[in-house]
Amino acid sequence: MQILFVGDVIGKPGRRVLFRALESLAGQHDIELVIVNAENAAGGFGVTRSVVDEFFAHGVDVLTSGNHIWDKREVFEFIDDEPRLLRPQNYPDSSPGKGWLVVTARNGARVGILNIMGTVFMHPALDCPFRCADRVLARRPEDVKVIFVDFHAEATSEKQAMGRYLDGQVSAVVGSHTHVPTADECVLPKGTAFISDAGMTGCYDSVIGMEVEGSVRRFVERLPERLTVATGKSTLCGVIITVDPATGVSSEIERLRISE
Ligand SMILES: [Fe+2]
Ligand SMILES: [Fe+2]
Repeated sequence: MQILFVGDVIGKPGRRVLFRALESLAGQHDIELVIVNAENAAGGFGVTRSVVDEFFAHGVDVLTSGNHIWDKREVFEFIDDEPRLLRPQNYPDSSPGKGWLVVTARNGARVGILNIMGTVFMHPALDCPFRCADRVLARRPEDVKVIFVDFHAEATSEKQAMGRYLDGQVSAVVGSHTHVPTADECVLPKGTAFISDAGMTGCYDSVIGMEVEGSVRRFVERLPERLTVATGKSTLCGVIITVDPATGVSSEIERLRISE
């Protein structure tokens, strides 16, 4: 079976290219599950109920997120009632929402999806993501062989370490958050598909998806500046993972880059 993961979708330009790509990808691949990181989907910051519904209406099965999950206040009102929207599992247990979900893919396979956040150069620093993954995997249901991990983190070293730590225990460890795609996709020795970062889905004529001038000024002037989503030609970045549903072992990871 194949799982499509799409990296951080940035505002309307990101949603637009994603929804168009989903239509064409459906015919070309054997995709049984679509997972999208949506932490920047509503105006570049967070998610709203209507944006979440728009994803599901276009065939997205599960949404992951990261440090921007709380940016739109209304998320507090619906995340507890929407299990298909994940927040990092290593937030305190008292936080709204959850970071682990088991779904049934289109081929009938039971798939576990885990969203965890790194602690290196990340704010806020959450509980240890490695121990968090251990705790979840220790109590996973027996029939869940396929497990996908979105590791939302800044440091490539922490991401590669997580890939190695979970190699053979999960089907895929895919990085998100930096918005810059890396070229280190591989299947690790014990069958876990890995990439440090899937990249973002939005306008690449930008600074990580945001309008250039304001982004540069913020670094030069060192003053707070409200950033806006860059507009124009948009690009989807993500990966397609091929995994054996009987064992959860991956055989291939393919990098995707689809421009308008
Ligand atoms: Fe992001
Ligand atoms: Fe992030």
